[in-house]
Formats: sequence, structure tokens, C-alpha cells
Amino acid sequence: MTQPPLPLDGLLAGQRVLVCVGGGIAAYKAAELVRRLRDAGAGVRVVMTEHAQQFVGTATFQAVSGQPVRTSLWDAAAEAAMGHLELAAWAQRVVVAPATADLIARLAHGFANDLVSTLYLATEARVAIAPAMNHRMWRHPATRANVETLRARGVQVIGPDDGPLAEGESGPGRLREPEWIVRELAG
Ligand SMILES: Cc1cc2nc3c(=O)[nH]c(=O)nc-3n(C[C@H](O)[C@H](O)[C@H](O)COP(=O)(O)O)c2cc1C
Repeated sequence: MTQPPLPLDGLLAGQRVLVCVGGGIAAYKAAELVRRLRDAGAGVRVVMTEHAQQFVGTATFQAVSGQPVRTSLWDAAAEAAMGHLELAAWAQRVVVAPATADLIARLAHGFANDLVSTLYLATEARVAIAPAMNHRMWRHPATRANVETLRARGVQVIGPDDGPLAEGESGPGRLREPEWIVRELAG
């Protein structure tokens, strides 16, 4: 019989966690991640890439985080109230989930051409990525090299899991289950 999951209460009590949502199929699971982070006692803010919004709307993340969601560097109102540098400083932990192959490449190469990549360069918080992609993309030498670059820089790499993928294939590339992302962040 499967053991019931242990409660997440207090695992990240009082931690300020910035969740960066990338544009992959697993973006919908990031909403569950936000819920689980809050269950663990974290205060959560969410930023989404432009492509992430093709998969899930900002309203979902606004509802589950209880905070406004940022999607662009070029948001005049948000920059007036809480600029991207303040958001980078606010975060004690940053988790990129799902981390797409493209986003991993941008982070590994130090791009600052959108809100998420700019925040990554601007923050001193501990950063974790939870990759999710097709298994061939995950195994590609370019992705392997980019992940190893980030790992060598101290970025925590959570998952991916091996199993059925959205496109009907199977292999490494599934987003780790949100509850386990929280546990690894806290571990
Ligand atoms: C239907 C669809 C599903 C996609 N799923 C993934 C995915 O799971 N992982 C991934 O790395 N890229 C995926 N992509 C490609 C990304 O959306 C694309 O590389 C995009 O530039 C990522 O942008 P972002 O990382 O800034 O969000 C998908 C594209 C489409 C059209």
C-alpha cells in the first residue's frame, strides 16, 4: 500500500520564493508547485516568460500565489512599484519550473533578454531549475552542457523524472512532481 505523503507544513517557513515559469507543457504543473510552496510556509511570487503564457494564464498564478504576476521587463506600472531589481533582491530562493531547454540555455549563457533571465543575473538568491522537455531535447549534448554549466555554478537541478511524456513518448524529461520539488528545495 502506498504511504500517504508527509505534510509539507513548515518546510520552507518564512522563505521568500520566486517561481519562474517557462514555456513548456508542464507549465500547468507550476500552479500546483505554487500551492505546495505555500503549504510549506513560503511566500511566493511568480514571473512567467512570454511563451509560458501560451500554456497558462497569469490569472491562475495570481490566484494561487495571492500576488500580482509579472511577465515582462517592460511593465511600467510594476517597474514603478517593484522593479525587477527589487524582485531579484526580494527572493531568497528562485525556482525555475518548468525550465525549458531554451531557458536553460539563456541562463547558462548569461543572457538578459527577458524578465526571467535578467532576474537570474540580478539575484543573489539560491537558484534551482526543474527541467521539463522531450527526452531527446534533454539528452542533446547542447542541453547536457548547459545543465552542467549551471550545476557547476551552484544551481540546484531538480529532476527531471523518467516516465511518460506529454507527446506520448517515454523517457527522462518529466517535471518532478511539485511536492518533491518542494522537498528538494527544503532538503
Ligand atoms: C506545444 C509546445 C510544447 C512545448 N513544450 C516544451 C517543453 O515541454 N519543454 C521545452 O523545453 N520546450 C517546449 N516547447 C518549446 C518552447 O516553448 C520554446 O523553446 C520557447 O522558446 C521557450 O521559451 P521560454 O523558455 O522563454 O518560456 C514547446 C513548444 C510547443 C509549441
